[in-house]
Amino acid sequence: MNSTLNSKKGKKTFYQDCVFHVDENVYEPAEDTFLLAENLEVKKGEHVLDMGTGCGIIGVLAAKKGGRVVATDINPYALKCAGKNAKLNGIHRKIEFRLGNLFEPIKPDEKFSLIAFNAPYLPSEPTEEQTLIEKAWSGGQNGREVIDAFISKVSSFLAENGRVLLVQSSLSNIDETLQKFAQMGLEAEVIAKREVGFFESIVLIRAVRKLS
Ligand SMILES: C[S@@+](CC[C@H](N)C(=O)[O-])C[C@H]1O[C@@H](n2cnc3c(N)ncnc32)[C@H](O)[C@@H]1O
Repeated sequence: MNSTLNSKKGKKTFYQDCVFHVDENVYEPAEDTFLLAENLEVKKGEHVLDMGTGCGIIGVLAAKKGGRVVATDINPYALKCAGKNAKLNGIHRKIEFRLGNLFEPIKPDEKFSLIAFNAPYLPSEPTEEQTLIEKAWSGGQNGREVIDAFISKVSSFLAENGRVLLVQSSLSNIDETLQKFAQMGLEAEVIAKREVGFFESIVLIRAVRKLS
């Protein structure tokens, strides 16, 4: 279903009928990306936020399914690369690209039917400066820095019947994520899982508003 090609001209990822060029400063689609891609359901006309778009793969797939997509990233190379890939896959009119940290580039009154984030979720040693590629996977000392900041704000940008899809690893405490969603009034559960070694699995968490 997916494959990767490395050549002197750079990396390419193929997924379904789409192709994605991946700049050297941009996260290369991996197991976590494909877990999200395989479980991405979008209805025609839905407003979708692809947070941390990387090479644009999730945003492009969501737009191909009929979504109107806003794709964001803190990495300017990612946005440039994602923009090119949106054009390459004939879908650029349905995606808007914005640079910035988490919800900073989102207007306070913007609401989304789907907010998808393959977050930086791995625990990492504290370093003074991180490269853009390190920022794609590093979630700070406990792996939760970006995840927690995301969960604390996400419900304000979710439409009434909206849903969140968040990817993380078992190394960054899945139960804590479910609890933190609950504290924000969202009901969350693990809907897909992939083992990536003896000691780690990657999960896809779906969260929706609790019924009152
Ligand atoms: C694991 S990669 C996922 C890339 C792509 N969505 C995929 O699934 O292949 C995480 C992405 O989130 C971006 N990112 C990291 N921290 C962010 C933040 N605070 N706000 C927005 N994007 C962020 C990274 O630059 C990177 O492109």
